[in-house]
Amino acid sequence: MENQIIDKVIALCKRRGFIFQSSDIYGGLSNTWDYGPYGVELKNNLKRAWWKANVHGRNDMYGMDAAILMNPKVWEASGHVKNFFDLKSECKSCNKRFKSDDLAGKTKCPECGGELGEARPFNLMFETHQGPVKDAANIVYLRPETAQGMFVNFGNILDARHPRLPFGMAQIGKAFRNEITPGNFTFRTREFEQMEIEYFVSPDKAEECHKEWVDARFNWYANLGIKKENLRLREHGTDELAHYAKACTDIEYNFPFGWSELEGIANRTDFDLRQHSQASGKELSYFDDAKKERFFPYIIEPSGGVDRAVLAFLADAYHEEKVKEDLRVVLKLSNELVPVKAAVFPLLKNRPEIVEIAKKLAADLKKSFYCTYDDTGAIGKLYRRQDEVGTPYCITVDVQSLEDKQVTMRNRDSMLQERIRIDRVKTYLLEKLYA
Ligand code: GAP
Repeated sequence: MENQIIDKVIALCKRRGFIFQSSDIYGGLSNTWDYGPYGVELKNNLKRAWWKANVHGRNDMYGMDAAILMNPKVWEASGHVKNFFDLKSECKSCNKRFKSDDLAGKTKCPECGGELGEARPFNLMFETHQGPVKDAANIVYLRPETAQGMFVNFGNILDARHPRLPFGMAQIGKAFRNEITPGNFTFRTREFEQMEIEYFVSPDKAEECHKEWVDARFNWYANLGIKKENLRLREHGTDELAHYAKACTDIEYNFPFGWSELEGIANRTDFDLRQHSQASGKELSYFDDAKKERFFPYIIEPSGGVDRAVLAFLADAYHEEKVKEDLRVVLKLSNELVPVKAAVFPLLKNRPEIVEIAKKLAADLKKSFYCTYDDTGAIGKLYRRQDEVGTPYCITVDVQSLEDKQVTMRNRDSMLQERIRIDRVKTYLLEKLYA
C-alpha cells in the first residue's frame, strides 16, 4: 500500500511535469532526475522559504555561494580523502556491489545467492582533472558537501563583516557522491542539492545551541506543511557519527518506504576550523574582545537535502478523494511552496471579450505572483489539472462576467466557489496567499 503511494507520486511527477527521468530518450542514466516546469517552481519555492527563514529572517546569518570545485587540499584537511568512504562487497557470480551496512552480516548475494567478496573501502567522492593534463597532480573533486566552502571562507567573513559570536553562514548548492546504492526515486542520488548552515558558537554554548537548531529545523518543516506525525527526531549512536561529529540528531520523515533521514543537525566541534587552520597555515580562530580570549569556535551544522525535502513535501501533500464517481487527486501543498498560486480560465474560448478579460487578469496577477492562464480544455478538466499540481485558487471568467464584472473563484481544498469582483481579485488572493 505504502509503496503504491510512492509509485503514484512518481507517476504524478512525470504526468504533470514535476520530475522526469534524466536523459530519458537514451534510456536514462540510473538514479538521475530532471526537474520539469512545476518541479523547478516547487524546488525554488522551497529554497526561497529556507533562505527567508535562515538568512533574511535573522540578524546573525551570512549567505554564501561557494564554488563546487575547490583546492584538493581542502578535502585532505577535512578528512574526506581518508575517511569519506563506504565499505562495499561485490558478488563473485553476478558482480553486483552492495554497501556492507545494507548486508547486515549476510555472506550471500541478496540478488543471486552467490558468494560475496571481502568488504572493501570505496571513497564516495567523484574525481576529475582540472586542465588538459589528466595526471595525479591535477585531480580535483566534485564537492561531496557544501559545508567546506563555508569553513574556508570563515576568515573572509570575519574580515568583511566583523560579526560577533554566535553567527552563522548559509549556503544552498549542488553536492556529489558516488553512492553505491542510490535509489528510492530522488531520495538518494549521486548528484543532489544541499541546504546547509554552519553556525559558529563558543564551545560552552554548543550543546544548548545544538538543541535550539534541532527545534528550529523541526518546526520549519512542520510550519511549511509537513504533518507532525510524519516527522520525528533520532539521535545518532556513537558508532554511526561522521568522523568530524561529536553528536548528531536526524530529523526523519515517514517516507512511503519507511522512516528515513531528511536532515541531520550535527555538533562538529572545532574540528573543521582547527584542521583548516593547521593545514593552510592561516589563522581561523576567533578573538573574543570581552573575554580577551582567542579560541576556535564550535560549529553546529543543520544540513538538509533539497531533493529529499521536495520528495517529503510531495509525498505528504499527495491526497486522493472520491468526488461523485471520480477520483480527485490533490496536492495539498502550502501556499508558500505551491508551484502556481492561481490559474485563470475563460469559460468559453471562442468569445474574444471573455478571453481578453481572462488574459488581462492573468497578466495583472503575474506582476505579484506566479499565475497561469489556460484555455486548453473544458473547465472540469482544467480544475482537475490544477488540483494535481496543487494550485490553491482557480478563477473563471464567464458570460456573466461581461455584465456584472465578477469572476468565479474556486478553492482547491473545499472546491467551494464564490463570485468576486474582478478589481478585488488581486487583493483577495494576496490576503489569502500571504496571510
Ligand atoms: N555537511 C554534512 C553533511 O553533508 P550528510 O548527513 O551526509 O551531512 C546532509 O548530508 C543531508 O544531505 C542529508 O540529510 C540528506 O538530506 C542530503 N543528502 C545526503 N546524501 C544524499 C544523497 N545521496 N542524495 C540526496 N540527498 C542526500
